[in-house]
Amino acid sequence: LPRHFLSIADVSPAELVALVTAAQRAKHAIKGGNSVPSNLLNSLSGKTVAIMFSKRSTRTRISTEGAVVYMGGHPMFLGKEDIQLGVNESLYDTSKVISSMTSSIVARVGQHNDIIELAKSSSVPVINALSDAFHPMQAIADMLTITEAHGSHNLAGLKVAWVGDANNVLYDLALACSKFGINLSAATPVGYNVDPSIWKLVEDSCRETGASIEASHEPELAVKNANFIVTDTWVSMGQEEEKLKRLKDFAGFRITNELASRGGAKSDWKFMHCLPRKSEEVSDEVFYSPKSLVFNEAENRLYAAIAALEAFVVDEGNILV
Ligand code: CP
Ligand code: NVA
Repeated sequence: LPRHFLSIADVSPAELVALVTAAQRAKHAIKGGNSVPSNLLNSLSGKTVAIMFSKRSTRTRISTEGAVVYMGGHPMFLGKEDIQLGVNESLYDTSKVISSMTSSIVARVGQHNDIIELAKSSSVPVINALSDAFHPMQAIADMLTITEAHGSHNLAGLKVAWVGDANNVLYDLALACSKFGINLSAATPVGYNVDPSIWKLVEDSCRETGASIEASHEPELAVKNANFIVTDTWVSMGQEEEKLKRLKDFAGFRITNELASRGGAKSDWKFMHCLPRKSEEVSDEVFYSPKSLVFNEAENRLYAAIAALEAFVVDEGNILV
């Protein structure tokens, strides 16, 4: 059976470090000479990767398609208007058929259960390109971004503050932080609590590494002593109808220099956001400042995609740690 990559929960701390290191290796190679490390050159030659997305995407689509090309393969983008999925054909049948003709499936879905179902019936590795519960390739890119900003692979003891929604990006970021020994404090508005079963996964993972995790409704508490302040959109794809209510409920959660100093973030704190960003979530003063790592974070998606394809498709899930 293929090994799938549906969440950061699917990899051990050592494997996650290996994934981030592989992403960094790919970045250095590409930045240095416009090609991937030699073991990856043509590593997907003659192979197709199905990129099956039921939602919009800029970064994930471009990084995944680009990664496949760097590795010599052929990306096949299948948007929701292109294939029969959901309209004329079940997940089971679609998965059987696509996996019989491709090397892997990179899928962006709504409910996380959909990608679990796809994975169950797929004969090739399935990689999660965002579900309503997890966003693992984003978390690899985020750990690379934090590694670069910190200037070392030893991230244990750093503090990440999340101020925003309780969502997919938070959950895989929290899992990734726990595996690196990074302490994370999340502040979400009242009525937007973290999912208890996912939080339990994070707590279990923290116990392995000694990292701490905390969830509250207080942005000031979250940012106290934080090295990194992170957020995401307040209105995820599929929640557009709740927009007005959410904007009201998230009052006080905007990331500003004022919040960071009121809460007592480290003086050299850095800002991260997976993008796309809307201006309510973070002031322009922060977003376009030297504190902001957002564009490097976005670029790092390419190297994260290469690392994920290397680990799960080329190396068939045998991640060398
Ligand atoms: N961060 C992220 O996943 O962006 P896209 O939705 O544009 O892929
Ligand atoms: N939380 C956002 C992330 C987009 C990359 C969403 O699910 O729409």
